Amino acid sequence: MTLPISTHEFFLLRSYIEEQSGIRLGDDKSYLVENRLSNLVLECGCSSFTEFYHRIRYSPQAHILKDAVLDAIATNETLWFRDRHPFRVLRETVLPRLQEEIETGRRERIAIWSAACSTGQEPYSIAMTALDLYSRRDREKECERRIRITASDVSGRSLAAARAGSYSEAAICRGLPPAYLHRYFQKAGNCWEIEDRVRDMISFTQYNLKVPPPRTFGSFDLVFLRNVIIYFSDEFKRTLFEKVAGLMSPRGFLFLGTGETITGYTETFEPVEDAGCIYYRIRP
Ligand SMILES: C[S@@+](CC[C@H](N)C(=O)[O-])C[C@H]1O[C@@H](n2cnc3c(N)ncnc32)[C@H](O)[C@@H]1O
Repeated sequence: MTLPISTHEFFLLRSYIEEQSGIRLGDDKSYLVENRLSNLVLECGCSSFTEFYHRIRYSPQAHILKDAVLDAIATNETLWFRDRHPFRVLRETVLPRLQEEIETGRRERIAIWSAACSTGQEPYSIAMTALDLYSRRDREKECERRIRITASDVSGRSLAAARAGSYSEAAICRGLPPAYLHRYFQKAGNCWEIEDRVRDMISFTQYNLKVPPPRTFGSFDLVFLRNVIIYFSDEFKRTLFEKVAGLMSPRGFLFLGTGETITGYTETFEPVEDAGCIYYRIRP
């Protein structure tokens, strides 16, 4: 059932959502709040969005409700090897270069951050790309040991699905090459489960890009911040790029989604073009 939302209620909720997550909803998005939050409002026993707004702002359950609102409002659309190019660059250019640094004793590990990982397809695609590369040299064990992937998302629900690593046939069909399905998944009932050795390369953490990073976040060599900044205000993008740069190693690389850019938001990064794929590195 959909509960009608007034313009005033929409303005209250959208400023709350932006304040909590950085997600900016345009003036034409009241239908989205209505559709995505009505059930939650009713489940909370509220009879209007105004009553719900007071509940999420001032009640003792405000903290729990905040997570539920962000779970419901965030768009978690994702697929395997999304846009292909970044994963090709990862396999052909970036990982071989970092591996060479390992071999020449200039680094111990490769730390990768999937900063809005949704239901896990992105970090698992990164892990499978790395395993595939290393398997060609019979060094999968070394890959599992050397490469650490941190996967985070604001949505606890998406993150739980990512951690579970169990996907329906329909989800699997969205971009996963059959060879990878047979190599890295096993069938469990109607679903496909990612193998433990792939999952074990990844640490899953609930993290909202709007707040200061956990102390456990180290210095990342590669950051995938893909298909998330499109939801943020220009002002938040500016702050976020500086925050992300502060969490990266000096020679680290940043991958954004197709159609996303740093232009106009930061001078800290510069673009790198590699056979049709643009990614970024910290300006020397
Ligand atoms: C469209 S999905 C993109 C997933 C994946 N990166 C990809 O490219 O396929 C956007 C994700 O960003 C997450 N998100 C939105 N706002 C966020 C925030 N403030 N902090 C962390 N994650 C956020 C959403 O929960 C959602 O899972």
